Amino acid sequence: MSKKIFSGVQPTGNLHLGNYLGAIKNFVELNDNNENECIFCVVDLHAITVKQNPRELKDNIRETVATFIASGIDPKKSIIFNQSKVKAHSEAAWILSCTARTGWLNRMTQFKEKAGKDKEKASVGLYSYPVLMAADILLYDSTHVPVGDDQKQHLELCRDIAQKFNNDFNVDNFFIVPEPLIQKEFSRIMSLKDGTKKMSKSELSDLSRINLTDDADLIINKIKKAKTDPLPMPSNLEELEKRPEAKNLIGIHSSLTGINLEKLINEFSGKNFSDFKENLSQVLVDKILPISKEIKKLLNDKTFLDKILTDGYEKADKAASKKIKKIHEIVGF
Ligand code: AMP
Ligand code: TRP
Repeated sequence: MSKKIFSGVQPTGNLHLGNYLGAIKNFVELNDNNENECIFCVVDLHAITVKQNPRELKDNIRETVATFIASGIDPKKSIIFNQSKVKAHSEAAWILSCTARTGWLNRMTQFKEKAGKDKEKASVGLYSYPVLMAADILLYDSTHVPVGDDQKQHLELCRDIAQKFNNDFNVDNFFIVPEPLIQKEFSRIMSLKDGTKKMSKSELSDLSRINLTDDADLIINKIKKAKTDPLPMPSNLEELEKRPEAKNLIGIHSSLTGINLEKLINEFSGKNFSDFKENLSQVLVDKILPISKEIKKLLNDKTFLDKILTDGYEKADKAASKKIKKIHEIVGF
């Protein structure tokens, strides 16, 4: 059966290895399958839920497009566009915010993490962010949504919103209830400085992540400095489970090379971390450096990147306008 794929990435700079392994690598595989229809959205409306510098935001939108393409997404096969251009997203988000219940939103853990201690000062947008995400997905009758593990709860909310809207208005299957596509293993890549915290754009130390624009020296240095425990490399899976930093580094290797965990553990069992780190650095450089070089090359051609967004906009807007028109009829506007 052909799948309608939709996913979004925020243009907030510093796309990193977690974004790549948790989401973008999967986007590329889905894009390569000719049976799928794929839409990849640069979610700039989501980005402004926290303060952004307007000039940097513009650059980051282009950099996100460049990263998609440098990673292997073919803009001739997949639609790439930015969310703010297609007006139906904001409109559908409002309508769906009248379907979503505050009790549902109150349970969202990402809001609690991002808002921190002073929730009163968080923007209303940050709170209602998952409703906009539901609008993104539902406007295109998406059947499958590839995301990292941190978005699982938001997708469940999206499914609840779709079902409640269909029930409330008695329109069976009007909104397709989408399936999440989350990697089975290592769907959450952790910080290089703390194996219990997710790798993130907003972490202060750049040493905590491998950015997709890092050069070879930076990658090697970051892996060299990555936190490990004082023991030698683990010798079985049970031991690995108890050692978050080792688990993360071996997991990164396994996700990039496709070599299974047992095999990696056997190969490096009892050795010093430095041997493994040398090997991992090489794997990372081989994978990330070509992407990093291509991003830098693409960023010199703003006209090309902008053209991808305008072409994508035209296709996305056509589909979204049709759906929002039907939504208007259903709610009685
Ligand atoms: P964001 O940068 O927050 O827009 O995230 C873009 C995509 O990358 C989403 O599908 C996230 O789930 C995924 N992602 C972000 N950080 C990580 C991480 N540390 N590990 C795995 N996936 C991630
Ligand atoms: N909330 C997602 C994130 O922070 C980004 C996103 C916005 C998204 N809209 C989406 C992901 C729709 C999948 C589908 O990573």
